[in-house]
Amino acid sequence: MTFPKDFVWGAATASYQIEGAVNADGRGDSVWDSYCRRPGAVWEKQSGEVACDHYHRWREDVDLMKQIGLTGYRFSIAWPRVMPEGAGQVNPKGLDFYSRLVDALLAAGVEPWPTLFHWDYPQALFDRGGWLSPDSPQWFADYTAAVVDKLSDRVSHWFTLNEPQCFILFGHRDGIQAPGLKLSRREVLRAAHHSMLAHGRAVQVIRQRSAQPAQVGIAHVGWSFIPATDSEADIAAARDMTFSTVETQRLDNAWWMDPVYLGRYPEQALQFYGADAPKVRDGDMETICQPLDVQAFNTYEGQLVRAGADGRPEVIPQPTGVARAHMGGPVTPDSLYWNAKFFHERYGLPIVVSENGTSNTDWVMTDGRCRDPQRIDLLRRYLRAFERAGDEGVPIRGYFQWSLMDNFEWGHGFKFRFGLIHVDYVTQQRTLKDSALWYRDVIASNGAKIRDD
Ligand code: GCO
Repeated sequence: MTFPKDFVWGAATASYQIEGAVNADGRGDSVWDSYCRRPGAVWEKQSGEVACDHYHRWREDVDLMKQIGLTGYRFSIAWPRVMPEGAGQVNPKGLDFYSRLVDALLAAGVEPWPTLFHWDYPQALFDRGGWLSPDSPQWFADYTAAVVDKLSDRVSHWFTLNEPQCFILFGHRDGIQAPGLKLSRREVLRAAHHSMLAHGRAVQVIRQRSAQPAQVGIAHVGWSFIPATDSEADIAAARDMTFSTVETQRLDNAWWMDPVYLGRYPEQALQFYGADAPKVRDGDMETICQPLDVQAFNTYEGQLVRAGADGRPEVIPQPTGVARAHMGGPVTPDSLYWNAKFFHERYGLPIVVSENGTSNTDWVMTDGRCRDPQRIDLLRRYLRAFERAGDEGVPIRGYFQWSLMDNFEWGHGFKFRFGLIHVDYVTQQRTLKDSALWYRDVIASNGAKIRDD
């Protein structure tokens, strides 16, 4: 099969990971600015203070996107740039930055797909309770309105949130991401519920205020389970694990996706969480479950599952010596295939991969090239898996490679390089890696190239 003719060939970034300029033009503090100031929070005390200085170098970066031939660019809008206090006063200079970026993208033939929130939560709102506050959905709706009023005459594709599983669980339960809290399960699930209400409210705002018809999605983590064999029993076991919310309570898909796409929490989970489950008010689930145009997920790897002797799913180890990416995760292209298959089967929407890629031990070599054969091979394998899902009837809509450029990898600082573009963080020199040139040819062939080489 070939990829659909209007398939979106994209790449993704996020504001705090690339922009820098944390004090420029009225930007307010985010919880990541504060978190990076905590001793020991981030590798080698690094932060997004400068990062890729994209706030000043965006013209050059858009030109590089044009050279690669991207047809879509997923970036995030920094809430504290638009509303320095998170609520109330709008900062025109913050909005102007994104307005100019959107104009440049459109002029370069690149469709903007902004994410409204990718973790840089306004510190001022955190100080007022953050996601625990029952006001947090309204805060997010008001922020969304300011952005939609400014950009929706030119932007028609939106993601509301990036990975609520991460910013809620890692940031509010495990304390390993900003704001670095370790709350009780009841509080974590309350914050989660508010983040889902915020998503729903933002979709309503986009539908009500957009200057043009809009496509809306949310970028969840796609936690993936791969059948150990193609037997029906193993496939059923992998499906069960994909939507189980007891065994995989860490980043369970159904707890976060069922409310958004089906309008209900999974019953098994409500029972599992008991008194800790969020108090659902009348109308909450209707607010959360707004019609969406695509299902988007970020996927990197998966676990192998077989039907155990007792009929229950059993996670088994990867084969000894499995290829592993630089961060240590196994290279498992079938994780993308099964994510696409199982999610489409359960929720029925066209599929967008909002993030997929790998870090790699990249550097610019003595001849000036940045060779990254592992990334090329990994992308080829995952794109073939996505195409296979498409072959079998899953409506595949788009793919955003993580990441356009090397950037600040949260608690890891700048240790890991995920970009198609190498960034020298001292000189800010950008270098197209071999993978960028390969991806350019993939895009030019609308995917056919992945089958050649
Ligand atoms: C995530 C975030 C990205 C990461 C990327 C690499 O999925 O954790 O959306 O910001 O940088 O996934 O880990």
